Amino acid sequence: MLITEGRLERIKKVLEKRQKDLQVFSDNITNPHNFSAILRTCDAVGVLNLYYTYYGEEELINQQITMGSHKWVFYRKVEDRETFLKKKKEEGYQIVATYLSDSSIHFREVDYTVPTLIVVGNEIEGVDRQVLEYADKQIVIPMYGMAQSLNVSVATGIILYEAQRQREEKGMYDRPTLSQEEMERIIKKWSVDDVISQKKMESSLKQFKKLPEGGK
Ligand SMILES: C[S@@+](CC[C@H](N)C(=O)[O-])C[C@H]1O[C@@H](n2cnc3c(N)ncnc32)[C@H](O)[C@@H]1O
Repeated sequence: MLITEGRLERIKKVLEKRQKDLQVFSDNITNPHNFSAILRTCDAVGVLNLYYTYYGEEELINQQITMGSHKWVFYRKVEDRETFLKKKKEEGYQIVATYLSDSSIHFREVDYTVPTLIVVGNEIEGVDRQVLEYADKQIVIPMYGMAQSLNVSVATGIILYEAQRQREEKGMYDRPTLSQEEMERIIKKWSVDDVISQKKMESSLKQFKKLPEGGK
């Protein structure tokens, strides 16, 4: 079974719009719904790399929420946060961390068209203090209601779409950020993964059809 021409074209088109230097770091988000919704928004905005720390046991990907988008975003677990954040700085990324405080700046004041790592935090604790120390900018989405904070996946979506707006305005979706070589490598991987996952789906569908009524 080979990947179809149409599917391959679709993958290429998606990769041409991926924003290699717009990345997200999820600092110990523990709810699979939240993490999966963030991943889906990353796919929609063109984020290729979603990094995360997670100290729990539960599977973070909920496929009913990701709707397949987990196949098109690289989500990578970070074992050592400090090393990771230092490396991002060395690579020239500005670290923009969400922090619900009066001292934080309005999230729209940031220029997201330069290499940016957006940091979002745990549902209860927020972004860890140790991580905040690495932040070049601390941002907040204004809140005018009774609740003090937004759901983390909603907050991530709002910030990412501001980044998307700024990048679109600058024509950054009109030229690929990935090199030809990087694109080819990803196309190869995604094509193989796609065929494998389709095969898996077909075989479980066959199994399901073989089952007597009631599924037993
Ligand atoms: C429910 S909040 C955490 C609340 C926690 N008590 C705090 O003060 O950070 C979870 C995450 O959602 C994001 N978030 C929620 N509301 C936000 C806002 N108004 N501005 C920026 N980020 C927000 C941040 O990433 C935050 O770490």
